[in-house]
Amino acid sequence: MKPVSELSGRTVVLGVSGGVAAYKSAELARLLVKAGADVRVVMTESAQHFVGPATFQAITGQAVWSDPWDARMPNGMAHIDLTRDAQLILIAPATADCIARLAQGRADDLLSTLCLARDEGCALMVAPAMNRQMWEHPATRRNVATLVDDGTYMEGPAAGEQACGEVGAGRMVEPADLLEAVLSHFTPKSLAGRQVLITAGPTSEAIDPVRVITNLSSGRMGYALAQAAVRAGARVTLVSGPTALALPRGVRRIDVASARDMRDAVMNNLSGTDVFVSVAAVADYRPASPSGRKIKKSADSMSLELVRNPDILAEVAARADAPFCVGFAAESHELDSYAQDKRRSKRLPLVVGNLVSDGLGSEDNLVVLYDDEGRHPLERASKAAVARAILEHISRLLKG
Ligand code: C5P
Repeated sequence: MKPVSELSGRTVVLGVSGGVAAYKSAELARLLVKAGADVRVVMTESAQHFVGPATFQAITGQAVWSDPWDARMPNGMAHIDLTRDAQLILIAPATADCIARLAQGRADDLLSTLCLARDEGCALMVAPAMNRQMWEHPATRRNVATLVDDGTYMEGPAAGEQACGEVGAGRMVEPADLLEAVLSHFTPKSLAGRQVLITAGPTSEAIDPVRVITNLSSGRMGYALAQAAVRAGARVTLVSGPTALALPRGVRRIDVASARDMRDAVMNNLSGTDVFVSVAAVADYRPASPSGRKIKKSADSMSLELVRNPDILAEVAARADAPFCVGFAAESHELDSYAQDKRRSKRLPLVVGNLVSDGLGSEDNLVVLYDDEGRHPLERASKAAVARAILEHISRLLKG
């Protein structure tokens, strides 16, 4: 199985109309390109007062279009050719005027013509950006309602401080969130209606008020799974040990420190869960009696008595009403036999195994999936791509 970049094989037309947020579209173009999309930028004339076509040309490596009469298009059909193999037109920022013209079905510049002349298979997503009074004006409300009726996806606007100094709704949704909306748009909803509970990150076991036992887990694999599951249509709760990671859009997070806190949070949120994915590197042992006071270095040596922590995954999987349980096995050696043993002893339909040298704390991961059918190696890829492949496998097993 080969995990691929999120947007590889996708063609996105990025429409930029004339608002100050146009400078952020350059970043959006970069994110779309980085995610593997073929990005074609179409600017309105007024957009070019805010940011130059050369910026987009450099970022996308492609010509930027704005003139319906552009002679560079071989058959003079720029208004049709630019979207023929595109799956999405994303207009960001979309000004009040741009939205009004789309709602009326105007075709008086290249961008509006492209929207009108596009195929059924090419969706339209619009990220409004304008002064808050323009956004609240009844005319804009009407135009937006018309666009939504026509099947347009509206992203935002966000609320906050505006370029004009006023505060309110009308800011363009941030580029990273627009990328997320695009990724979500293209993700098949294979987990629609499913509730997914995920543990992630390390745990932290107190020795005294300032010292802990923890491990090198970054939490990235669990967070990537949470994000991919939301994109696939699931409702996702993430029980997270201490990490420095940003909360993925649309995920509910419960922060915990120790293994026992993690266990309690999992048990309290298990009801209604269809899939439990236990990614966390849970400490197997904790100090038997953590000191209430900071331990002083008076002795030459010291020993800590450790006691076993609860095995959260084993406890969930043993329940009569157990959800579909997925375990992770990070091993330093003999991955196949340890992972298969874990699958059998904890009675799991699926275990994701990796060698610690291949994944722990890093951006990429190289994993093997173990299920009733045997072993399924995935190719080394980013944790986001590996997460997508794991969820596809889970949704196949759920259907099977
Ligand atoms: O038994 P072992 O730690 O090797 O199993 C790893 C799997 O079990 C992982 O999915 C991990 O999240 C889970 N686990 C757990 N509670 C523990 C130890 C591991 O849920 N105390």
